[in-house]
Amino acid sequence: MMTFAGRFGALVPLLRGTTQFIKCAVLSGAKELLPATGKTRPWGLRLTIQSNVNVPPGGIRLAHTDIKIPDFTDYRRPEVTDPNKSSQDSSDARRAFSYLFTGATTVVGVYAAKTVVSQFVSSMSASADVLALSKIEIKLNEIPEGKNMTFKWRGKPLFVRHRTEKEIAAEEAVNLAELRDPQHDKDRVLNPSWVIVLGVCTHLGCVPIANAGDFGGYYCPCHGSHYDASGRIRKGPAPLNLEVPYYEFPDDDTVVVG
Ligand code: FES
Repeated sequence: MMTFAGRFGALVPLLRGTTQFIKCAVLSGAKELLPATGKTRPWGLRLTIQSNVNVPPGGIRLAHTDIKIPDFTDYRRPEVTDPNKSSQDSSDARRAFSYLFTGATTVVGVYAAKTVVSQFVSSMSASADVLALSKIEIKLNEIPEGKNMTFKWRGKPLFVRHRTEKEIAAEEAVNLAELRDPQHDKDRVLNPSWVIVLGVCTHLGCVPIANAGDFGGYYCPCHGSHYDASGRIRKGPAPLNLEVPYYEFPDDDTVVVG
């Protein structure tokens, strides 16, 4: 029966599977009962497996042969579509195109990356309205000589003092050796007529009173610190001079602080 089945190519896999099963039965010691003698013998001994069917060495391929191979001709370069022509002939031209394409892609990529990074970094900087609040523009012709005006700048009081010639001469003549925080008057002002300092006492942060104290400059009533008309500490517990912020004069009548 096996010989008969083996003549049909379509049954070859079944025949092979049966052969494997018989081999397994023999190896596992299965026995066959002989009715005539009542004896048993190994089951596979009387089987003769023949396979003289013309089967290819690799067997019959039962793959899906209806799958179409994709045609990439449209995506290939024309120089290499001719199978009779060596691709080496067009190698230089194709390589030049590859270099050009790679270079252009790199330039575009770097520019895009730079734009993304720039926008990301600039998004963390202060906005225009915040920057506008960080500066204050003061008209100097509104402050009479000998007077001090207080402005609010970045949440702190800002003193702008229009000094008299007498005050300027007195502050410039001060002996630096007498000062707790030695600093010459010329190092604290851009224009001797104008003293611009933060109105925050350097002791514990109170707001001093202008044109008061033993030195005619500023007086902090919290613990009794006396500053002169240059904002330098002269007496009391404060350790440092009043802070001078960054400022500039765009013209003779205007100062911009910040
Ligand atoms: S806070 Fe000004 S003297 Fe103490």
